[in-house]
Amino acid sequence: SILIVDFGSQVTQLIARRVREAGVYSEIAPFSSALEAFERMKPKGIILSGGPASVTTEDSPRAPDALFEAGVPMLGICYGQQLMAEQLGGKVVNGDHAEFGRAFIEIKDECPLFDGLWTTGEKHQVWMSHGDKVERLPDGFRIVAQSDGAPYAATVHDGKRFYGVQFHPEVVHTPDGGKLIANFVRHVCGLAGDWTMAEFRATKIAEIREQVGEGRVICGLSGGVDSAVAAVLIHEAIGDQLTCVFVDHGLMRLGEAEQVVSLFRNHYNIPLVHVDAETLFLSGLAGVTDPEAKRKFIGKTFIDVFEEEAKKVGGADFLAQGTLYPDVIESVSFTGGPSVTIKSHHNVGGLPERMNMKLVEPLRELFKDEVRELGRELGLPDAFVGRHPFPGPGLAIRIPGEVTKERCDILRKADAIYLEEIRNAGLYDAIWQAFAVLLPVKTVGVMGDYRTYDSVCALRAVTSTDGMTADIYPFDAAFLSRCATRIINEVRGINRVVYDYTSKPPGTIEWE
Ligand code: XMP
Repeated sequence: SILIVDFGSQVTQLIARRVREAGVYSEIAPFSSALEAFERMKPKGIILSGGPASVTTEDSPRAPDALFEAGVPMLGICYGQQLMAEQLGGKVVNGDHAEFGRAFIEIKDECPLFDGLWTTGEKHQVWMSHGDKVERLPDGFRIVAQSDGAPYAATVHDGKRFYGVQFHPEVVHTPDGGKLIANFVRHVCGLAGDWTMAEFRATKIAEIREQVGEGRVICGLSGGVDSAVAAVLIHEAIGDQLTCVFVDHGLMRLGEAEQVVSLFRNHYNIPLVHVDAETLFLSGLAGVTDPEAKRKFIGKTFIDVFEEEAKKVGGADFLAQGTLYPDVIESVSFTGGPSVTIKSHHNVGGLPERMNMKLVEPLRELFKDEVRELGRELGLPDAFVGRHPFPGPGLAIRIPGEVTKERCDILRKADAIYLEEIRNAGLYDAIWQAFAVLLPVKTVGVMGDYRTYDSVCALRAVTSTDGMTADIYPFDAAFLSRCATRIINEVRGINRVVYDYTSKPPGTIEWE
């Protein structure tokens, strides 16, 4: 395995991800408990992450000295490289100017990290993000790559097998970075690269058993992939110590609630409490048009219902959530203490404190596509695992203006037609998210010999890698007119269809 020592970089999880992609198991430990993790894991290699601090300041975090004396290969990235230089007797200074973004390094010498990838004299794109830089190398190190802003862009100590890079190989803007990390974990550390999602599953199951013991766990299902994968994994670990609660707010897409219920009860035989709360949610939404008011009402009501159901089943010691890495903002405490400050975005925010429950979040290291892979590993049907993201507040934020049962039904039909056409055209997997929106605007039309006066439906489809930015999907005109014709012909209440051509930013993916 590989130990990743975290110094608080925003992208430490990306290092873990690149190591997983190379087929190697890794764990991340904050610098303050790195030694403990090292002794427990006995890793074959260590990676020191980047971080926001400056090695030149007195109280900046350090790696335990024992790690440098363990005879294990080490890769220091950015702050990690500077730390390695400083702690081994070199010198780091504040650079006269910071270097951020794309840069080109020139390969000066051979290095095991570059095997089969980069040769001497070539120039390669990397991503830099640093203010400080190494000024003098410790004894035994040599320079293997340089850039204008970083004369020590890559450095090596062959005897110790210590490697330092000033750039960030873990981000996609260093196009060969993944291969560089793979070279470190496989060639340098000698790991086989045969670790798989199957092993992640086994490791997590053992961890969940250890964390939960004899305790009871309750899991709120949203209908989405993340909470479903978390629930199935936890059920595999602790069986019927887990209770799943599906709060059905009536704002799901066509057939979606039935799919979730059937997946759990029939496919997996996992006990599921299905709460039909449609009336409660829709009556509370009556007259509400402000987007934030809708979101707040739905969030609060969801928690109320969930809490009541949790009490009915006798309470629980743990709340399970399908929190993913992008939902987690993690920062390492630099006060020198062992504590790690973790802020996480809770889908069922506030509940754990109120009900005195601890959290079980087995997916918090993973990215969306990895969760999908784990879901397939756990036997979830492909069609379920590959589903587009769906927001917690459901159709309510796709119906600007007042949400009523009637409008939900109209939208469900239009949305189902649109998605059916997308599937038939083989485009579903090329799109991050596609959905219909029902506008609170009526326009005049003519059908046959009749005048119509009905609602407008907007279609949206975007590509994205993480939902943070998005581009519109460029359907061809024939496809869009096929969707428009079908929706207008088949859905009573809609007589006009428009396509949303807004990227994010400046738009958001959802309309509210
Ligand atoms: P926006 O609309 O902000 O959405 O561009 C980005 C991504 O997040 C989803 N989304 C939500 N997911 N609860 C969720 O679980 C929510 O309240 C929520 N709001 C937006 C959205 O569908 C898109 O994938």
